[in-house]
Amino acid sequence: MNQASLYQHANQVQRHDAKLILDEFASTLQWRSDGEDALLDVGSGSGNVLMDFVRPLLPIRGQLVGTDISSQMVGYASKHYQWEERTRFQVLDIGCEELPEELSGKFDHVTSFYCLHWVQNLKGALGNIYNLLKPEGGDCLLAFLASNPVYEVYKLLKMNEKWSAYMQDVDQFISPLHYSTNPGEEFSQLLNKVGFIQHNVEIRNEVFVYEGVRTLKDNVKAICPFLERMPATLHEDFLDDFVDIVKSMNLQQGEDNPQQKFLSPYKLVVAYARKSPEFANNILLELPPENFKGIN
Ligand SMILES: C[S@@+](CC[C@H](N)C(=O)[O-])C[C@H]1O[C@@H](n2cnc3c(N)ncnc32)[C@H](O)[C@@H]1O
Repeated sequence: MNQASLYQHANQVQRHDAKLILDEFASTLQWRSDGEDALLDVGSGSGNVLMDFVRPLLPIRGQLVGTDISSQMVGYASKHYQWEERTRFQVLDIGCEELPEELSGKFDHVTSFYCLHWVQNLKGALGNIYNLLKPEGGDCLLAFLASNPVYEVYKLLKMNEKWSAYMQDVDQFISPLHYSTNPGEEFSQLLNKVGFIQHNVEIRNEVFVYEGVRTLKDNVKAICPFLERMPATLHEDFLDDFVDIVKSMNLQQGEDNPQQKFLSPYKLVVAYARKSPEFANNILLELPPENFKGIN
């Protein structure tokens, strides 16, 4: 997905979820007492979730680095938010073999919304997130899809000879937890394996309602990785076939007209993890004395 401006205007689901999760975890994140928090976001895309919902939580002296595998997304976000102080965007593949030196071990917090389902090497990505955090500790807040009906739609579209040539590698675009019988447990184990000591993983069953065929198509256009491989003249035909499959899966609601609603029931992984308990203890030690009542 490289269509930054399309994505910026069609990411209602992602914005909705990120806002709810950040409201919920804002006070759990271990903010530094000196206000000099450094936060890196993984898979920032066009940057609006990061700037609208993460940026306001960061203390005034905090530093923000938005990253994405797509140089087109990074270019768009850099240009769009160039006036923002203490904020920069750079290319980073979170599944990379070796982190760039200027990022490794430099952050108090890592956040990531709606990105990790794109990364087949989830363990490698989590290892990198662990290593982006400072050696003395830090925490991360991660939200991504475990499963979504869109993956089943992709698999059915691939069987159609009109589209199969564009979708040979469809499995690369299916969440690594889509087939898991216990995605929460699987992800917890990965967090343990890479070294996170304390963590909390939840699988949330959510339903998003797309208001009308055009809204559904615009969202698919913004995130579907296969469209950019085919001539633009085929896009509407592909989207029509996409909608027909959604209907065959009984995910529509109401009359068959342009205002018809579409339901997308999905499982979201929401994970919060700390690199080391000492980090949390350090923060506790910096709290005023009344917080130590009853602690001998
Ligand atoms: C659905 S967008 C989410 C953007 C933003 N976080 C939000 O919530 O709106 C997913 C982003 O992840 C990026 N992405 C995919 N694979 C990645 C990887 N291996 N490393 C970093 N970013 C990646 C994509 O380029 C895309 O911009």
